[in-house]
Amino acid sequence: MPETKNASTALIDSLNWRYATKKFDSEKRLDDETLAKLLEALRLSASSFGLQPWKFVVVSDPEIKKQLPAVSWGQMQPQDCSHLVVICRIAELDEAFVDKFLNASATTRGVTVDSLASYSSMIKGFLNNSSDKETWAAKQCYIALGTLLTAAAHLGVDACPMEGFDAAAYDKILGLEKLGCHSVVICPLGYRASDDKYAQAPKVRFESEDVIVHI
Ligand SMILES: Cc1cc2nc3c(=O)[nH]c(=O)nc-3n(C[C@H](O)[C@H](O)[C@H](O)COP(=O)(O)O)c2cc1C
Repeated sequence: MPETKNASTALIDSLNWRYATKKFDSEKRLDDETLAKLLEALRLSASSFGLQPWKFVVVSDPEIKKQLPAVSWGQMQPQDCSHLVVICRIAELDEAFVDKFLNASATTRGVTVDSLASYSSMIKGFLNNSSDKETWAAKQCYIALGTLLTAAAHLGVDACPMEGFDAAAYDKILGLEKLGCHSVVICPLGYRASDDKYAQAPKVRFESEDVIVHI
């Protein structure tokens, strides 16, 4: 777990503690409560328009996980982790999907769907004019990934953001077409192996004056 001196440094301590875990302890598993909190953090992620054009597929079946290193550039994290989160974009980002979101908005906020007509036109207009809805939806998935990484660090759970996998092969193995989605980025979750030497490697980050500009 990240060491915390006081509440005001807790977040930065957690972000310093986390690292892209190369080797998971395959014997250690997330308990249900911790997993539920991480999935709730994912569900609460921000997205453009609030549209949530994603599905989060959680893989814990060992037989399925065993098939994944071969289609993950030989990387073992998808097999050895406790739970693998496959962050997927919705395949059909059509008007029906927007309507589903608007219906949920109306119900949650106690307003009529008709009162959301101009918001509806704006979202549908944006998507209809977009030449690459797939990339737009994938960008939203990366926001969810960031939320998950921060939440995992906060809870003392190890994670590894991963693009090094064959998305078409994952879609096939996990039957994602039937779920109406495509894999974008993956995030194994669990606990680091005690001999993962990357855990001790100092973070390589540019100095703040190189990357932060105050105007
Ligand atoms: C989108 C994305 C994809 C990544 N893909 C992989 C991957 O396939 N395998 C891996 O071991 N690390 C992967 N990483 C981890 C990065 O190499 C790592 O985050 C970076 O070197 C910074 O180190 P730190 O996260 O340990 O601080 C990925 C990171 C991101 C954000």
